[in-house]
Amino acid sequence: PRVIYIDANGGEFEADVPVGQNLMEGAVDNMIDGILGECGGVMSCATCHCYVAKEWQDKIPPASEREEDMLDMAVDPQENSRLSCQIEMTEALDGITVHLPRSQY
Ligand code: FES
Repeated sequence: PRVIYIDANGGEFEADVPVGQNLMEGAVDNMIDGILGECGGVMSCATCHCYVAKEWQDKIPPASEREEDMLDMAVDPQENSRLSCQIEMTEALDGITVHLPRSQY
């Protein structure tokens, strides 16, 4: 399934991310700038912060309390903020679109 990553300047990158991988791994494996994932996906860095496109927000499981706490530490959190390492790819998410914050380059 495909993930569309849109960077802070509007550049669009499409990546094929295997089911079971998370969107942070998908970005790092495809060398997409804008997601760092410094902690490797264990919810302790918030450098995998992304904004999920509105139409996809209710198609992914809600954030856990721990994720919400980490998002408070991200730069410029918004109501559609998520940690990309906590979004696991499924067939149903084919085409999911996330926006990348300017702070993670
Ligand atoms: Fe560190 Fe997601 S990679 S919180």
